[in-house]
Amino acid sequence: IPVEPFDYVVFGGTGDLAERKLLPALYHRQLDGQLSHPTRIIGASRSVLTHEEYRTFAVNALKEHLKPGEYEEDQVKIFTDRLFYISVDARSDAGWDKLKQLLDDGGKDRIRAFYLAVAPAIFGDISERIRDNKLITKQTRIVVEKPIGKSLASALELNDTIGKVFREEQIFRIDHYLGKETVQNLMALRFANALYEPLWNASHIDHVQITVAESVGLESRAGYYDTAGALRDMVQNHILQLLCLVAMEVPTNMSAEAVRDEKLKVLHALKPITPANVERLTVRGQYRAGASAGGPVKGYLEELESGQSDTETFVAIKAEIGNWRWAGVPFYIRTGKRMASRMSEIVITFKPIPHSIFDESAGRIEANQLIIRLQPNEGVKQSLMIKDPGPGGMRLRNVSLDMTFSEAFNVRSADAYERLLLDVVRNNQTLFMRRDEVEAAWRWVDPILKAWEIVGQKPQGYTAGTWGPSQAIALIERDGRTWHEN
Ligand code: BG6
Repeated sequence: IPVEPFDYVVFGGTGDLAERKLLPALYHRQLDGQLSHPTRIIGASRSVLTHEEYRTFAVNALKEHLKPGEYEEDQVKIFTDRLFYISVDARSDAGWDKLKQLLDDGGKDRIRAFYLAVAPAIFGDISERIRDNKLITKQTRIVVEKPIGKSLASALELNDTIGKVFREEQIFRIDHYLGKETVQNLMALRFANALYEPLWNASHIDHVQITVAESVGLESRAGYYDTAGALRDMVQNHILQLLCLVAMEVPTNMSAEAVRDEKLKVLHALKPITPANVERLTVRGQYRAGASAGGPVKGYLEELESGQSDTETFVAIKAEIGNWRWAGVPFYIRTGKRMASRMSEIVITFKPIPHSIFDESAGRIEANQLIIRLQPNEGVKQSLMIKDPGPGGMRLRNVSLDMTFSEAFNVRSADAYERLLLDVVRNNQTLFMRRDEVEAAWRWVDPILKAWEIVGQKPQGYTAGTWGPSQAIALIERDGRTWHEN
């Protein structure tokens, strides 16, 4: 269903996120017939450009970032006709009257979204100028991206700053992992099937693994990444969101508040990591020179100008949730740059059967696993023990019911932003993070950062193109388990 016409103002409109993600995502929404006339997309940033120059910027962005066959001349023409550009400065009055004029031309009733694809340091300035220039209408929302702070204190400050101008219902905090197809499918799997939910607890689940492995390295983001590291960059947001969706109680419905209330309870139930247990429960890593995507790659330190850093590019954690449902069920999480491959998945390993009726010749009975693959090849896989077909007697075999979505449905897999950008327009916050969630996540992450500092836990080296430091393997093997590798 097409959404009603809206104005999307993208601050940082000439930046990397707009170019790689936002413009291609909005174009795809148009291809799918979701943008109705006269929807407008307004790029805003400090660079001085005409509308025409911005349209050319967008054409280049689409050429560069769409897949073959997706660039259709006539559709691109319609799309660029929607584009406008205003040069504004977050820290001065310059340009804001022109932005107001352009928005007012669209009418005060039209849905207005302000997307802050800019450094968090200027979230406050932009919010205040939006307010001072009277750009906030009844139908206005604001979208912000991570990093929302780099500690609990800075997150509180940032949320306060935005909160002074916008009400919580107007603030859409994007975690693009929540827009990924399989992540939403996690809710479908859990709550649209009678099969799993009765088993979804400590009596039947042995442990959970969440892996978000990337093959890329720093990607010219040293300035940001070296001050963040894997724990802040990936765990505080994406991975904890995944963990919440796996672990939360059944919300009463799919409304934003019901879902977010349940996620929040999980965050509150995470057991604290302290200086006393941090070395047992966490592993930090930093990649050294190695090979990735078929060629040699530099080590992390060689990519930095300073050549020195204690920032982790890999982290593994044994997390535990202190509640009835999950008591004693470890959630092993790991994420890293320059790993053996780009692979993200959630693996639920069920408990072994209580008693085997088969004799040894039947072979080993392996525990059932449910594997939810986020990328690449989004899909779901359920392993089962079956009898090896044929007359050879009772021999057991572990097989998988494997469904790769792109094959099963013959559909393009949409980028996470496509869904989320229009959820903003539709005013649906279910897949966005509420303020208290972000802060609760920091409340768990902050003490880990502090504990590392107190005990002096430095990153362990790992060769680029591997699965991280050997200590990460030891972390799980100490418990008699292994990381799932496909
Ligand atoms: C971002 C992180 O939030 O997510 C990046 O800042 C990371 O460091 C990226 O590369 C991963 O996203 P995706 O969708 O490629 O898995």
